[in-house]
Amino acid sequence: PTPIIIDCDPGHDDAIAILLALAHPEQLDLRGITTVGGNQILDKITDNALKVLSFVNADIPVAKGAEGPLFGKLVTGAEAHGESGMDGPLLPASKFRPVQQGAVEFMLDIIRSSEEKITLVPMAPLTNIALLITAYPEIKERIEQISLMGGGIAYGNVTSTAEFNIYVDPEAARIVFESGIPITMSGLDVTNRAAIYDEEIAQLKERGPVSNMVGELLDFYSIYGKKMGYSGSALHDPCAVAWLLHPELFQSRELYVTVETEGKLTRGMTVADQRTNPAAPANVKVLVDVDREAFLRLIFDALAKLDGE
Ligand code: BDR
Ligand code: CA
Repeated sequence: PTPIIIDCDPGHDDAIAILLALAHPEQLDLRGITTVGGNQILDKITDNALKVLSFVNADIPVAKGAEGPLFGKLVTGAEAHGESGMDGPLLPASKFRPVQQGAVEFMLDIIRSSEEKITLVPMAPLTNIALLITAYPEIKERIEQISLMGGGIAYGNVTSTAEFNIYVDPEAARIVFESGIPITMSGLDVTNRAAIYDEEIAQLKERGPVSNMVGELLDFYSIYGKKMGYSGSALHDPCAVAWLLHPELFQSRELYVTVETEGKLTRGMTVADQRTNPAAPANVKVLVDVDREAFLRLIFDALAKLDGE
C-alpha cells in the first residue's frame, strides 16, 4: 500500500476523506494525520479528527500543527462547518489523544524513517506543509507526491477568484506549488462536480452507523451549500483521496500553476498558465472532471465496509 499522511481541518468533507482512506488499507497505509487551523480553530478541528477516528476505532496518530496562517490572522470556515467545525451528528467523546509532537516534526519523522517515499494528502490551508519543506528542504526528495484539495483554475468560493484552503494561507500555498514536488490538485473545477444530492444523502441514512453518521454530517453541510445556490453538496476533500485510489475516474490537465499572494481581487487565486505556449513547464496535474456516479459508489462502498457490511 501507498504510505500517506493526511493534513486536514475536519470539516465535514475532511471527515469523509479520512473515512475513505481508512476503508482501503490494502491500497493506502495511513501513517498519520496532522491538523491545521482552517474550517475552525485548531483545538476544535483536532478534536473532530480524533472523534471521527474513535467512531470507527482507528488508532491513527494525530499531530497538531499550525494554529493559523504564516502571516496574518486565521479566517475560519465556520459559516459552512458550524461552531464546532463539524456540526451535525452528536459524536461520542474521543477515546484518543493527539501525540506530543507537533505536526512538522511528526511528518518529518515519518518521512525520514520510511523506506518508501511518502505521499502527502493536504485538504486544508497549506501552512503545515509549507513549514515542513521550508525548514527541511532536503525532505522534498522523500515526498513521492502531493494530492491536495485546494484552488481552482476557473473560479473561487471565498472570493470570485480564491478557494478557501488557498485563501486562508496564500503564502504557504505558493511555497508548496513552487516546491518542485509533483502535485495533483483537486480544485473546485472537479470538486464541485463531485456532488451528492439530497436523495443520495437520504440513502446513506438507511444504512449502518458510519454511513448514517456521514448522512447526518451531509444534512448539516448541505444547508450552507443550498444557501450558496448549489443544489448538491460538493465532496471536496474526498477527491484528493479518491484520485489516489482510482485515478481513472478523473479527467486532468497538466498545467503550470502558482498562487497569487498580492492582488486586491485575486489574493489566494491559483493562477494557471493555459496558453498553448506557457511561460514555464507544467508543475501540477489539475483535475477537471470526475465520473460522479462511480465516485459516489466508491464513497458508499467505503462507508459500507466500515459499517462491517
Ligand atoms: C475546502 O474548504 C473547506 O471548507 C473544506 O473542508 C475543503 O477543504 C473547500 O473549499
Ligand atoms: Ca478541509
